[in-house]
Amino acid sequence: MKNTVTTFKEAKEKGTKLTVLTAYDYSTAKLMDEANINGILVGDSLGMVCLGYKDTLSVTMEDMIHHTKAVSRGAKNALVIGDMPFMSYQTSVYDAVVNAGRLIKEGGAQAVKLEGGAIVLEQVKAIVKAQIPVMGHIGLTPQSINMFGGFKVQGKSEEVARQIIEDAKSLEEAGVFSITLEGIPEKLAEIITREVSIPTIGIGAGASCDGQVLVYQDMLGMFSDMTPKFVKKFADVGTIMKQGFSKYIEEVQKGTFPAKEHCFKIDEEVLNKLY
Ligand code: KIV
Repeated sequence: MKNTVTTFKEAKEKGTKLTVLTAYDYSTAKLMDEANINGILVGDSLGMVCLGYKDTLSVTMEDMIHHTKAVSRGAKNALVIGDMPFMSYQTSVYDAVVNAGRLIKEGGAQAVKLEGGAIVLEQVKAIVKAQIPVMGHIGLTPQSINMFGGFKVQGKSEEVARQIIEDAKSLEEAGVFSITLEGIPEKLAEIITREVSIPTIGIGAGASCDGQVLVYQDMLGMFSDMTPKFVKKFADVGTIMKQGFSKYIEEVQKGTFPAKEHCFKIDEEVLNKLY
């Protein structure tokens, strides 16, 4: 059954945990969909794990649309959430609505995500008014790393913790269907999850969130440039891939690949004419 924003709402009401992973291509999205994931986020983490940038700030709308299209083709049942890249919504309410619309119309997503609380409320309200479901994202918002002074856990002081709680409440009022809580203390996430009636999806925010999200290359051990404390490696696919690559190199060099069963035949009669 297709996951929708209603599925997310009902999961919170029933106390069923929601599962979300990032994906950036067709075949990975298809595998996740077959595993029955609730949501696939085409995150702007794409910039780091797929494109090799040091942060997410260089990602463009064109990058996001390209990858969202691929994921949408692979995800039959998961809710596809397209991430709004840096400067696609901060510049104006108009830009925010136009770019959110592009992720839906061109990318095939069913919802969008953008970072920030109080500072993006007008954008969130306008996108929701345009009938596009929005997922909020607060706490350690990677598009703000230059303001934070790096990838640093947020909400450890009373002032910032209160601000994050307020952000969550005002995002709910502005109409978001769900909020990603990233890089905040677990007890703060617990308070927010209790205080809002929409599902919270945590990443580095502890177990009391209504659901969890991880970057798939992190949880499969495929990305080693940076490993945050909150990541659990559910499988060591990186090592398996490297073993596969080495075996391929070895067999091609030895001449054992391709073998007879990998080759195509030609009729003797045709062949004789070629000599
Ligand atoms: O871009 C991304 O992958 C994200 C998740 C970390 C929530 O925003």
